[in-house]
Amino acid sequence: ARFEIITPDMSEAVIVHLRNNFFADEPLNKAVSLCQRGESHAALERLCAVTIADGLSLAAIEGDTSIEKIQQSSDEKYNKIFTILYSVSQELDLFNEFQVDKILECRIISVDEKARGRGLAKELMSRSIDIAKANGFKLFKADATGAYSQRICSSLGMDIIRTVRYADYKDASGTPVFNVPPPHDALAIMVKKIP
Ligand code: ACO
Repeated sequence: ARFEIITPDMSEAVIVHLRNNFFADEPLNKAVSLCQRGESHAALERLCAVTIADGLSLAAIEGDTSIEKIQQSSDEKYNKIFTILYSVSQELDLFNEFQVDKILECRIISVDEKARGRGLAKELMSRSIDIAKANGFKLFKADATGAYSQRICSSLGMDIIRTVRYADYKDASGTPVFNVPPPHDALAIMVKKIP
């Protein structure tokens, strides 16, 4: 086994391991029947998260620990989403393509339902590009999964470098993996070069 400090990107895999092992088997947990094997427990998971965040937790790892494995969760629905995003980004090889050693990626943009349509997301994205610039990033990237995020990215001068139409993204049996209602019809990988 290799012994590695647990980094934030490993925490989901660690939590899954704990759900399948520690949560059910630790003697006191077991005594009070805290959870069934595999079951989540909010408070215990918060304790795990803050502990991992301290950066002093250790894991003994056997086998493959690529980011793909680490990010895989026990939730098949989540895995579907992760798989499309991860596989498209893998193919693009942006570091090589744009000759950069770091990329600032906007992974999540979210506005309170009651505050939407007022330009807040656009302002957040615009300021994120400013943050990228101020921190020496030469490339800003977003996986824009819907029409609104795509509009925002385009209006801020980001270019689409890959589109995957949801209707064309099918599983082995030829069925589309995602049924995304209009106006959202494709995933767009969008980037902006920062001078
Ligand atoms: N109908 C039509 N157009 C819309 C709508 C709507 N319901 N909502 C936004 N738009 C358009 C706006 O007209 C605007 O385009 P314009 O500048 O050409 O007029 C553009 O989309 C952006 O509008 P904003 O007001 O800046 O966006 P908002 O603050 O409403 O937030 C967001 C948009 C973040 C997508 C919000 O709807 C949301 O939180 N959705 C759920 C989470 C989500 O889908 N996030 C994006 C996923 S991709 C990623 O996270 C990297």
